Amino acid sequence: MTTSAIPVIAIDGPTASGKGTVAHKVADRLGFHYLDSGALYRLTALSALRRGADLADEHALAKLAEHLPVQFAGAEILLAHENVSHAIRAEEVGNLASKIAALPAVRQALFALQLSFRKAPGLVADGRDMGTVIFPHAKLKVFLTASTEARAQRRYKQLIEKGISANMEDLLSDLQARDDRDTHRAIAPLVPAAGAHILDTSHMTADQAIEEVLAWYALTK
Ligand code: CDP
Repeated sequence: MTTSAIPVIAIDGPTASGKGTVAHKVADRLGFHYLDSGALYRLTALSALRRGADLADEHALAKLAEHLPVQFAGAEILLAHENVSHAIRAEEVGNLASKIAALPAVRQALFALQLSFRKAPGLVADGRDMGTVIFPHAKLKVFLTASTEARAQRRYKQLIEKGISANMEDLLSDLQARDDRDTHRAIAPLVPAAGAHILDTSHMTADQAIEEVLAWYALTK
C-alpha cells in the first residue's frame, strides 16, 4: 500500500476535550496505529526543562525537537531509554509545551516525525493541526470539543487519578490561557479543518463519542 493510500483519521480539539481517550480507543477498535502529537511537544518541553535550555532560543528548542531520542513502546514513552510517560503529563510540562508549540521552527522540526506514524493498516492522529496541516487529506476529520467547565472537570479527575495534585481554580485559568494561545497563534492555530465533523462531548460519555467517530468512519468507506 502506498503511504498516500493509508487511511488517516485526524482528531483535533482543545486541551482536555477527551480526544486522547477517544482517539486511542478508536485506533484500538480499528487496529490502527496511534499518534499522540501533543506528546511530542511535551517531550520537547521536558527535554528543554531537563537540559536547562534557553527557553527564548527558538533555534535551540527546534534542535532539541528534531533530535528527540524518543521511542514509543506500546503505552510507554521512552526518552533516552527512560520511561517518561508520567513525567510529560505534569502541568508545568504541558504549559511549556503549549508555549513552545507556537514557535514555527519547533513545529517544522516535528513535521517529518509525525508523518512517519502513517503506517498500514491506518492511523488515528490526535492533536491541534492534524486535519489542517499534518494530514490535510485525512479520510475523516473530527473536531472534538467540550465546554470549558466540562474540560476542567475532566482534567482534574485525570490528574487526581494519576496521583498528581491539582487545584480547580488554577486548572481553569491554565486551560483558558492554553486555549487562548492555541487558537490565536500565527502558525497552525487550533481551528476546525475544512470538512471536519464537530463533536461537542460536554454531555457525552467517552463511549458515545467513540461510537460516533466509528460511525462517521464507516460512512467514508
Ligand atoms: O493534554 P493537552 O490536550 O493539554 O495537550 P497535549 O495534546 O498533550 O499537547 C500539549 C500542547 O502541545 C498543547 O497545549 C498544544 O499547545 C500543543 N500541541 C500543538 O500545538 N499541536 C499539536 N498537534 C498537539 C499539541
